[in-house]
Amino acid sequence: MIDYSLRTEHPSTTKTDAVAVAVHEGHRLSWAAQEIDKASKGALAAAVAAASFSGRCGALLPLLNVPGVAAKRVYVFGAGDEKPLSAKDARGAGRALAALANEQSIAELCVFPIADNAKMIMQQMVLGSSDACYRFDETKGTTAKRAAEKPSLKRVRFGMPAADKDSGSLLKVAAATASGIEYTKYLGNLPPNHCTPKRLGDEAKKLAKSHGLKVTVMDRKQIEKLGMGSFLSVTNGSEEPPRFIVMEYSGAKKTDAPTVFVGKGITFDTGGISLKPAGDMDHMKWDMSGAGTVFGVMKAVGEIKPKQNIVGIVAACENMPSGKATKPGDVFTSMSGQTIEVLNTDAEGRLILCDALTYAERFKPRAVIDIATLTGACVVALGGVNAGLFSTSDSLANAIIDSGKTMNDRFWRLPLEDDYQEALNSNFADMANVAGREGGAITAACFLWRFAKKFDWAHLDIAGVAYKGSGKEKGATGRPVAALVNYVMTME
Ligand code: BES
Ligand code: MN
Ligand code: ZN
Repeated sequence: MIDYSLRTEHPSTTKTDAVAVAVHEGHRLSWAAQEIDKASKGALAAAVAAASFSGRCGALLPLLNVPGVAAKRVYVFGAGDEKPLSAKDARGAGRALAALANEQSIAELCVFPIADNAKMIMQQMVLGSSDACYRFDETKGTTAKRAAEKPSLKRVRFGMPAADKDSGSLLKVAAATASGIEYTKYLGNLPPNHCTPKRLGDEAKKLAKSHGLKVTVMDRKQIEKLGMGSFLSVTNGSEEPPRFIVMEYSGAKKTDAPTVFVGKGITFDTGGISLKPAGDMDHMKWDMSGAGTVFGVMKAVGEIKPKQNIVGIVAACENMPSGKATKPGDVFTSMSGQTIEVLNTDAEGRLILCDALTYAERFKPRAVIDIATLTGACVVALGGVNAGLFSTSDSLANAIIDSGKTMNDRFWRLPLEDDYQEALNSNFADMANVAGREGGAITAACFLWRFAKKFDWAHLDIAGVAYKGSGKEKGATGRPVAALVNYVMTME
């Protein structure tokens, strides 16, 4: 994790490995670039002109030994045209600057955001630079090889324009968000033979200890006692014992209603007896990304320490086929008392979440937000740009959508309507666990809705956004930790 802090010195006198200053299209210098230009007697503007620097977002121009400047290097980064920098472009600039720093093996970077919306830019640059320095090396090669791949960048300082000197609290939130995202990515990227339900339980205990949370990790016996027949039906085919995990952060009076996050923690989803095809089945190690998001949010919350009560619930198990596995047609009784006919064992996420939602009732929550890689249908509908959002409360939905826009970690609302419920009717139980192919993301949400009647509720289907399934960037994205931490902070 990079160490982030504020810096008050002048751009030209800052002693560091590299100072980063912005130049817009048309060679228009930002305030900090102007300062460097003055100190260097026009050398910066001359270099920008000589290089025909485009100034577009993402463009970079590294300069060495600029006269009159204390830093060894000056990194010029493009800030686009007259329009204010978007969150996405700011994050991209942070990512590009950190990647350049790593390429040049430097340890410290001092960034001077443009004056317009400087705080937002700082916040996004924290996330972008953290992303550029993220490595998953736990299961890679020898220690020597791992050390060689370590990023060189250790410290990022922000030199804020005069009007934004009080950015300390926002920087703390941004750094905590980055730390949460890194944790979510780490848990997601762990191989499924490492990231077992038991491991998630152990991680929760570790996180609780380091971040001052109360934690309860329940095993099969305790889960049986709670009557979670639906959750346990998913574990029937697996040799790995399940865990039901509850993490509690208290930052307010005991009587203050908490916000409860509920995560789908399927540490591997084979589909069970309704077996998935072999191609890309490795992606199903990321089927615990909802749980990973809950861990990331709880970690960030433990670092920020907001004056609120927050609960994180994770239902963790594997979905495997075996002679003991659930069969299509089996009927189980959920903790709520409602019975479920399992017509497709691959629709297992809703089976574990429904019992977790019932469990959430005991907290008398102000809102419950579940996060799950729930349906392929959601990926078809929204791709990897927006996560699906369903909610019984317009104000809750809008608050999450707004946070998503602020953090460029977006959601698109889909309908929760009774007309979709019919498709879940069963002749043999209170409901079936699947409807037809049509509106698959919606009918999955409608299933969960039957267990979310006692509180304001939002369901986030993150199947399309939680990970990239191929290419150089194959891996967990850490979404939607940034949006959810922002959502928590909007309630302060
Ligand atoms: N974990 C999957 C959903 C998923 C699909 C996540 C693709 C990420 C990428 C979920 O458990 C599942 O298998 N859903 C089924 C539901 C169907 C049987 C109604 C699906 O989407 O096909
Ligand atoms: Mn499945
Ligand atoms: Zn699944």
